Amino acid sequence: MTVIYLDHSSATPILPAIVPELTRLLREYGNPASMHGLGQAAKEAVEQVRHQVQIHMGGDGTVVFFSSATEANNYVLRTVARQSPHGRILVSAVEHACVRETADELAADGVDVHVIPVLPTGVVDLDALEALITPDTALISVMMTNNETGVNQPLDTVIQIAKQQDIPVHTDAVQWVGKQELPGLDYNYLVFSGHKLGAPKGCAALCLRQVPLTPWITGGHQEQGIRAGTENVWAIAGLGAALTHLEPQLDAMQRHYQVLNEQFRDQLNGDSVVWNSPESAMPHIVNVSLLGHDAHTTVMAMDLQGIAISAGSACSTGSMQVSPVLSAMFPDDRDRVQSAVRVSFGHTTTSDEIAAATQAIRRLILKP
Ligand SMILES: Cc1ncc(COP(=O)(O)O)c(C=O)c1O
Repeated sequence: MTVIYLDHSSATPILPAIVPELTRLLREYGNPASMHGLGQAAKEAVEQVRHQVQIHMGGDGTVVFFSSATEANNYVLRTVARQSPHGRILVSAVEHACVRETADELAADGVDVHVIPVLPTGVVDLDALEALITPDTALISVMMTNNETGVNQPLDTVIQIAKQQDIPVHTDAVQWVGKQELPGLDYNYLVFSGHKLGAPKGCAALCLRQVPLTPWITGGHQEQGIRAGTENVWAIAGLGAALTHLEPQLDAMQRHYQVLNEQFRDQLNGDSVVWNSPESAMPHIVNVSLLGHDAHTTVMAMDLQGIAISAGSACSTGSMQVSPVLSAMFPDDRDRVQSAVRVSFGHTTTSDEIAAATQAIRRLILKP
């Protein structure tokens, strides 16, 4: 059965244009820490991508490679908490589990963590944010684009508020980078991940500005002493190749996603269909409630027909958990939250696939 894959926000296929380079690199084996030519060639490959990411993310600051955005986000929150044991950490209610659950764990350990609520639009409540800030606030963490709804946060305003009081800002940009050019933002920590943009799994980047750096993994000098261990040269090179390939195409891809988004909405619209992603959200993610239909059952029913969609973020899928993101947006509407599914488009998605998926979903909803 050919699979119609509409779960690109979890992982998207490797960009065909970078496969030849990745295949060539499979035969390279030097360790970047080695002094000889093969090692130095590997080091050069890593440093080139580091420089490329630095330019892509604003032209200044430091870039550190991690294995995943989950790990990089953990590093930021845990390191800030360790460096400012009495500091307050503010995280938005709609963060990915790797931020939200890390914040929960820090709170359980006694760190002064507070959650910034969101409005029903999924956007952080800026008044609530201002009210939560104290002179001890050590970090504000607000993502750029939500992975379940595609909602963009008013990050420039969040940063303005934070900078008035010299508070560092962390942003999870996993669902933004590779989709749109990065606007000039005065962030302190920005994280994105390779496999969301057509690079191999196993590499994420943390872009840091003007912050003290302490080690995360010790026992080597890699990654400026922050994350010891031999670099994943292949995945890092893939990240660089994917960014190079995507950069000139971002506008065209956005238009493509917009067309697919509109088609999806037009073809699915009807009774018991409630849109959770506003039209202003990033077009590659659409969250929709199929009222009266449990999301996990819908995902399994679609899977049996060869259509891959999701009931929330990938990390919560296995655990049958109700989406904390949608719960934060619609706390009083259980059916809406429990029946919400996400489709996400990528570089392989076609209009025919959208037509087939919407037909299959409509058949499911219309079933008595
Ligand atoms: C917004 C967001 N942050 C973080 C992550 C985790 O990324 P990774 O798979 O690289 O750990 C994801 C993955 O879906 C995500 O969508």
